[in-house]
Amino acid sequence: MDKLIINGGNRLKGEVTVSGSKNASLPICIAAILAEGISSITNVPRLRDINTTAKLLQSLGAVVERHENSMRIDASTINTVEATYDLVKTMRASVLVLGPLLARFGRSRVSLPGGCAIGARPIDQHLKGLKALGAEIRLEHGYVEATAKKGLKGARVNFDVSTVGGTEHLMMAAALAKGVTVLENAAREPEIADLAEYLNRMGARIEGAGTDTIRIHGVAELSPAGYEVMPDRIEAGTFICAAAITGGDVKIKGMKLEHLDALSFKLMDAGVEITNRNGVVRVKGPKRPNAINIKTRPYPGFPTDMQAQFMALMCIADGASVISENIFENRFMHVSELQRFGADITIEGNSATIKGVKKLSGAPVMATDLRASASLVLAGLAAEGTTEIQRIYHLDRGYEQIESKLAALGADIKRVSEL
Ligand code: EPU
Repeated sequence: MDKLIINGGNRLKGEVTVSGSKNASLPICIAAILAEGISSITNVPRLRDINTTAKLLQSLGAVVERHENSMRIDASTINTVEATYDLVKTMRASVLVLGPLLARFGRSRVSLPGGCAIGARPIDQHLKGLKALGAEIRLEHGYVEATAKKGLKGARVNFDVSTVGGTEHLMMAAALAKGVTVLENAAREPEIADLAEYLNRMGARIEGAGTDTIRIHGVAELSPAGYEVMPDRIEAGTFICAAAITGGDVKIKGMKLEHLDALSFKLMDAGVEITNRNGVVRVKGPKRPNAINIKTRPYPGFPTDMQAQFMALMCIADGASVISENIFENRFMHVSELQRFGADITIEGNSATIKGVKKLSGAPVMATDLRASASLVLAGLAAEGTTEIQRIYHLDRGYEQIESKLAALGADIKRVSEL
């Protein structure tokens, strides 16, 4: 197992380029199975979750070829409509194959994902939506079995909660349903608009993606298409926080700052300078950030995927801040690890109170989930002395070459393989 060793205290300086979005790539690569033929997806990051997606598509019979940041998917050879527990338990997004397989073949069988480190994460809204489109759903032996002998039919779906995966899932299934589907209380994350753009490129007729009401006029079939995935807004946000926490001066290329308004306004309140010139975002960290409160919310609110990284920054803020997590019930796993750096944090319910300390001190810590791991990297960059982060396979799920990108900005960080 690999670990990261960071000698903290270096101010980050220089330029970094953001990779393609993990959370947009996953549904987009999965959507390729809706059409017979070869789709070519570019700007796909090289990550563990993308490897799992490739394996998942191959397990269905698709032919997948990868070259650097592109993925070529031939979905004309699909020969099974079943996704096994092994694949779904490694990556929850695998469950998104259920609707597309059902829409194209009239039947599918996909393992239920089970719990996860950050919360229970049920898929009731996905299933409710597919049922509204006429699917018969049975839960048996830990698997969801879905059938739609006469095909799916357009319907109104009103989501009880704002769900990114649920909205993506229903958009994919409804693209091939007969008639019109209206998704109400749909999630508005930029990754949803990106998936809709790809589906429309395939011949789907989707309007309103990125708003809370999405209309999908079903079509009889979709054709394969090429597509370039949007930049990863959470990776970009993590680099912004890295510049901020080290008092650095970093230029971030290839990102879309408008996808991160909630984060950047909070960071500017904290004293971070953020400017956007010709698509290059420059971030200058303050000597010490001001303490700022945040509450995570669905987009365009403050992203839960940036909560842990923002908390790392607040650990060295001048004053006390309160961070409330409203999306996942168990997303404070990083708190006990941040305390190992000397952070002063107390949790009550879904809120954490962070009393800023002047300095963090490097420590051996353990990664618990993807974004929690990112917060430990940030704390390590700011801390005095050496930090050793174990179980970084979590980090490899979502950050492409994080240590080489940070090292190029002047961080003293290296990956060590442990036998
Ligand atoms: N929820 C339900 N029922 C459902 C679906 C969701 O109750 O049927 C609840 C969840 O339990 C959660 C809330 O609704 O409390 C939001 O979940 P959502 O469905 O929006 O999350 P997701 O689609 O499973 C995606 C990202 C996550 C990100 C969330 C929220 C992907 C592959 N994953 O998950 O990303 O945190 O949206 O923005 O797109 C990450 O990248 O680290 C990550 C966890």
